[in-house]
Order: sequence, then structure tokens, then C-alpha cells
Amino acid sequence: MLGEPVLEVSKLCIDYGLPEDGGVRAVTDVTFTLRRGEVLGLAGESGSGKSTLAYAIPRLLRAPGVITGGDVIFHQRPVGGGPSQAVDMLTADAETLANIRWVDLSMVFQSAMHALNPVARIEGQLTDVLRRHRPGWSPAQRKERAVELLQMVGISADRLRAFPHELSGGMRQRVMIAMALALEPALVIMDEPTTALDVVTQREIIEELMELRERLGFAVIFITHDLSLLLELADTIAIMYAGRLVEMATATELVRAPRHPYSQGLLNSFPALHGAKKRMVGIPGAPPSLRAMPAGCKFHPRCVHAGESCLSVEPRLARPNGSFSARTVACTLQDGSRPTPAELALPDPAETAPSRFRTPAAAVPAPSDPNQNLTVGDLS
Ligand SMILES: Nc1ncnc2c1ncn2[C@@H]1O[C@H](COP(=O)(O)OP(=O)(O)OP(=O)(O)O)[C@@H](O)[C@H]1O
Ligand code: SF4
Ligand SMILES: [Mg+2]
Repeated sequence: MLGEPVLEVSKLCIDYGLPEDGGVRAVTDVTFTLRRGEVLGLAGESGSGKSTLAYAIPRLLRAPGVITGGDVIFHQRPVGGGPSQAVDMLTADAETLANIRWVDLSMVFQSAMHALNPVARIEGQLTDVLRRHRPGWSPAQRKERAVELLQMVGISADRLRAFPHELSGGMRQRVMIAMALALEPALVIMDEPTTALDVVTQREIIEELMELRERLGFAVIFITHDLSLLLELADTIAIMYAGRLVEMATATELVRAPRHPYSQGLLNSFPALHGAKKRMVGIPGAPPSLRAMPAGCKFHPRCVHAGESCLSVEPRLARPNGSFSARTVACTLQDGSRPTPAELALPDPAETAPSRFRTPAAAVPAPSDPNQNLTVGDLS
């Protein structure tokens, strides 16, 4: 059983530029609900709109990006406890947003080198967040917390005085994660947090992150191209193509029995870590340009299963015919209007035991009082 919703995104549309200036739509009608403690993996080819969506949720999208439709509701736990309050992120004023960002909802960006201030020491960057949001704390308390945060992500306290350029890429990324978790947010959005790192460091950081998530109970939106990683760490995976969600399912269902030809193509583009050797097929062609979106299903020019109706009718996300799970797919092969090829009609797999990284969300502890500082004891 998953927790109550922490984020509800409904029919979100995002454009770059206004229509009169020749703007283009980068994200179309994206709808999903994220529950407390849930890890949602977001995958899709380059340019599919993942970052645009990620930046729009906390309203951090920069011009010419503009949210043109839909709703983003964040369920904020009031300071001191009590029932959550729904905050409409798209109409929230600057003060409300400033009080939510970092405190309840934080982000880890793709490139830590660009996200950290290159001319400020790590200590200053960590304590800045605390100075803004914990005004009652003394400098000694802030420093103590900064040390705890660094240790929490496996960096020794003597690196507090370092500048970002004196740290390795992995350490910088860990600092970003420490900053994102400083105020115990309910949701952390991570946009390819480890893509630029070697696989060993990547692994270490992901393990630490998932351990922290188990202890602290935050929900995660994790963006990556690496579907095998998502199988291990995500509860749910959403696949994005041309700015739309085309399939959403539990991680096991999506990876073991994909229903959308694009999800299947993405999976076939990765080498399997286990099992017999398989030829990697990939997906023919390239994603469409935002300025020349095909009619009908946006994937049809690349889809080996495309039929007549796919050229003119855009399928909507819906439960696939004959599936008993909660997954949704946007494809005419799954709505009963056409026969479904056997490889896209694999039975829904039983949920496997949680992986090393994955904890059933029910086992994730409730977040502690947001005012209460974590102690080293809480984290060890
Ligand atoms: N500032 C901008 N102006 C115009 N178009 C933009 C801008 N930023 C992004 N886009 C377009 O929006 C679309 C989605 O881009 P986005 O960066 O969200 O993709 P992505 O899925 O995060 O890709 P990647 O995996 O490469 O990070 C792309 O077609 C991109 O060219
Ligand atoms: S709707 Fe048609 S073109 Fe689109 S993915 Fe399904 S079969 Fe392929
Ligand atoms: Mg991106």
C-alpha cells in the first residue's frame, strides 16, 4: 500500500515560446499522481520533455518555457504537523513557492558543477539553505547540521571548507544530494543525477540515496535513460515520448512485460545484465521535431506496428485490454480495436521481491517533524 498523494499533475502542457512568436509544445497533457515515499522513474529518449516537466513542477522553468495548461497540486504537510494542505503550484505566489522549495520539494540537477556556486565554499552553500529556512538557528547549529549532512552522503567534514572545483564529480553530486535533503523534503526531483559519473561512483551514490530514502521517507522523481537502473530503484516507471506519457506501470511490469511498442524499443536498446545474450535492436529513426509533430500517434513514423488509424488518431493513456493491473498505455494495439501482437501482450508479471534498492512504500517511515533537526544518531 502506497501512502497518500504528495503530488498530483494533471493534463500539464508546457510550451517554449508563445503561439504568436512561433512557440512549440514540449509537454502535452501529462497526468500522474505520486504518493508519499514512492519512487517514480521517468525515462525516454533525449528531447522527450523529461527535464521540461521536472523543472515545471517546482515552477523553475526558465523563459521561453511557459506552462500553458493543466494543474500541479503539491500536498504540503504544515509545519508542526496536521493534515496536508493542497497547494496549487501554478497559481502559488512567490512567497509560497519560496517556502515550498527546498523545505518540502527539492531538486538535484543534471550537472552539479553548474548547480553549485563555483566561488563559494561548500560550508557556505549548505548553511545558506539553513540560514534562509531555519532563521532561529545559531551559526554553530548550522555548521553542526552541515557536517551531519556531508557525513550523511559519505563526505568527511574536513571538505566543508573546499570549493566545488576542489571536489571530484561524484563528491559534488553528493553535496547536491545533501543540500536537497537538508530540510527533509517530502519530494526530491532528480534529473539524471549521476549520468556524468563513472558506473562505480554512480552505483555508490544510488545506494546511499536509496538508503536515505528508506530512512527519511521522501518520494522521488528520478529521471534517467537507464531502464535497468529504474527496475532496481523505482516503484513506478513512466515512459515519455514526444512530450507525452505513453506508458506508466510498476517497474516490474514495465521492464518484464512492456505494452507500448516504444517502451519495448527502449528496453531492446539496452544490453540485458542477466540471461541469454540478445541482439540489441534499437528503434529506427529519430524522435520528431517539436515543429513538425506527426498527426495521430506521434510514434507512428517509427513504429513497426503502425496501422491506418495510427496515422490520424492519437491514442490516450488507458488501461490495456485484458490487463488487470493499474498500468496505463497509449496505443491502439492495447485498446481492443486491433489484435495485440503476442510480444506486447505478455501477462502481467507477479511483483518480484523488492530489489536491494526498493522498499515497499508501506515500509517507508512517515517523515519526522519538519522542524526537528536530524541527529547523527538518526542517520547512523
Ligand atoms: N529553451 C528552449 N527553447 C526551445 N526549445 C527547448 C528549450 N529547452 C528545451 N527545448 C526543447 O524541448 C524539448 C524537450 O527538451 P527536454 O530538455 O525537456 O528533454 P529531455 O527529455 O530532458 O532530454 P535529455 O534526455 O537530452 O535531457 C526538446 O525538443 C528541446 O529541444
Ligand atoms: S498507436 Fe499505432 S503507431 Fe502508435 S505505438 Fe501503437 S501501434 Fe504504434
Ligand atoms: Mg533532460
